[in-house]
Amino acid sequence: MSNYHIKHLEEYWQVYRKSVRNPENFWEEIAEEHFLWRKKWDNVLSWDFTKPEVKWFEGATLNITENCLDRHLATRANKTAILFEPNDPKENAQHITYKELHQRVATMANVLREQGATKGDRVCIYLPMIPELAIAVLACARIGAVHSVVFAGFSATALATRINDCDCKIVICSDGSFRGSKTINLKEIVDEALESCPGVKTNLVVKRTGGEVTMKEGRDTWLQPLLDNADTICKATIMDAEDPLFILYTSGSTGKPKGMVHTTGGYMVYTAYSFKNVFQYREDDVYWCTADIGWITGHSYIVYGPLCNGATTVMFEGVPSYPDFSRFWQIVEKHKVTQFYTAPTAIRALAKENLDFVEKHDLSSIKVLGTVGEPINEEAWHWYNDHVGKKNSPIVDTWWQTETGGIMISPIPYSTPTIPTFATLPLPGIQPALMDENGEEMKGNQVEGRLCIKFPWPSIARTIYGNHDRYRDTYFSAFKNMYFTGDGARRDAVGYYRITGRVDDVIIVSGHNLGTAPIEDAINEHPAVAESAIVGFPHDIKGNALYGYITLKETGEDRNQDNLRKEINQLITDRIGPIAKLDKIQFTEGLPKTRSGKIMRRILRKIASKDTGNLGDTSTLLNPEVVQNILDNALG
Ligand code: PRX
Repeated sequence: MSNYHIKHLEEYWQVYRKSVRNPENFWEEIAEEHFLWRKKWDNVLSWDFTKPEVKWFEGATLNITENCLDRHLATRANKTAILFEPNDPKENAQHITYKELHQRVATMANVLREQGATKGDRVCIYLPMIPELAIAVLACARIGAVHSVVFAGFSATALATRINDCDCKIVICSDGSFRGSKTINLKEIVDEALESCPGVKTNLVVKRTGGEVTMKEGRDTWLQPLLDNADTICKATIMDAEDPLFILYTSGSTGKPKGMVHTTGGYMVYTAYSFKNVFQYREDDVYWCTADIGWITGHSYIVYGPLCNGATTVMFEGVPSYPDFSRFWQIVEKHKVTQFYTAPTAIRALAKENLDFVEKHDLSSIKVLGTVGEPINEEAWHWYNDHVGKKNSPIVDTWWQTETGGIMISPIPYSTPTIPTFATLPLPGIQPALMDENGEEMKGNQVEGRLCIKFPWPSIARTIYGNHDRYRDTYFSAFKNMYFTGDGARRDAVGYYRITGRVDDVIIVSGHNLGTAPIEDAINEHPAVAESAIVGFPHDIKGNALYGYITLKETGEDRNQDNLRKEINQLITDRIGPIAKLDKIQFTEGLPKTRSGKIMRRILRKIASKDTGNLGDTSTLLNPEVVQNILDNALG
């Protein structure tokens, strides 16, 4: 177990130095000792960031579900693998043991096979946070089908785009979902999406809400009767280490969403290793990550990382505010949760509520607290530390991305001293670099620049599905021989990293990545809109919220602005989802532009953030007069 569980800071540095001196040796030892391979690799790593191409454990074969399930059966058959906590606290929690999960995954895998899914086929999963979601993910992996999970809060258009982009023939959805006091008819959304997805031949429907749905003959089938008739044993398909495991879409600053492709062997090794170390997971712990499996956090740290370690992982269907704001803490107490991993936006929302919601629950089981998804502000950090951790549980501020597959920069709890708002130190195997505007690496400490990674790690995404050029252009062209993250960061006097935020046109709202271009495209579809620009501005709970500057076509018609605002937000909800709605919409006479016609977002950002003291030189703009007009009418 030499390299697996880091126990103190000195050991971290030893392990880190070793991982940088000889990364191949480092990862080979871990891969060799802790995983089940059908065949070992011929070559640990080959890479070339100019192509770009990265291959880990080439020549090895395995099935990740044998690592997540089969190998635990000898020692952990009756241990809870997934602890499902339903939306309604009155509904019983479900303890799904490793033995049961193994069987349910096998059964679902057999159903998928019967429906014609084979190795390499893409399967779209559009499900709420119910056990079937994790089971469907693992069932795909069992037979080598590539899962593409789409967060069940996305709209029909967003779902259709994702289904068509990777050409899914099978969809798995549910009749509906429970979210707090609401019941959402997911099937209706899927029906609408599938109208523009001619490639989908089969749609398997899980019954969750019992709501009324229409089943389209020849396409829609209830899943349960198929499961009832399927075999409970399923031989795992043998995969190459570099075979794709899944596609997960993330927003880019321009164009359609990017289907990030993750492969099998390296992803498994890295997520399992990082899970164990970042959460200091021990055998009897109950680990809870509140993310949705529709995001990378859920893939890596609800499903694969924990299950590879034989852990008990909690899956929560509901929301933090239902039936009241004590729901999270009630669950922690009920299941004696030991590691709790959530997003700053949730912490900020809960911190606004009465302290009594937290204080009335016994949270003494907690050993480690985690945050992810966006920078955590100091106030939220302290609230989390004081009232949830009782100043007794280290907070791991974990920085990473859909593209990185696993946590990259984070404290190791009980080893790395934490500082509010600092993600602190890179995990073993991760080699960050800060770059200046001239493309030079800034060596030494107390520097701030663009955050890159200069050496491959096992779980780096290998490509964008169907568009390798875009993969190269987005991540490997800004800085030579570097993976560019799109984030800025500062390295302080002792070498700790603090992430300063995105340096591109991606805005993180409530922990969700949103590209400005797709939102502007949606707005511009409105017949009254001539042009639009979206920027982020600081928001107490969401971290950032969206401010839209919109110019209307001159039709001579006087439109009611409140109605227009509603219509525009409805369009965004239809095209992307409610998470991308604008908090503020200002109608303007024009947008400030450079002489080459580029919108000056810097100025718009400052106005939206009420930081109007120094707008910089606006005299060189093509239309400097619009700035004053925008300032005069800026929304409070
Ligand atoms: O800007 C960074 C921010 O979230 C981005 C990645 O978003 P996504 O691919 O959706 O993955 C989120 C979950 C891993 C990053 O480029 N981000 C993520 N974690 C942090 C963060 N910003 C600051 N601190 C973090 N801990």
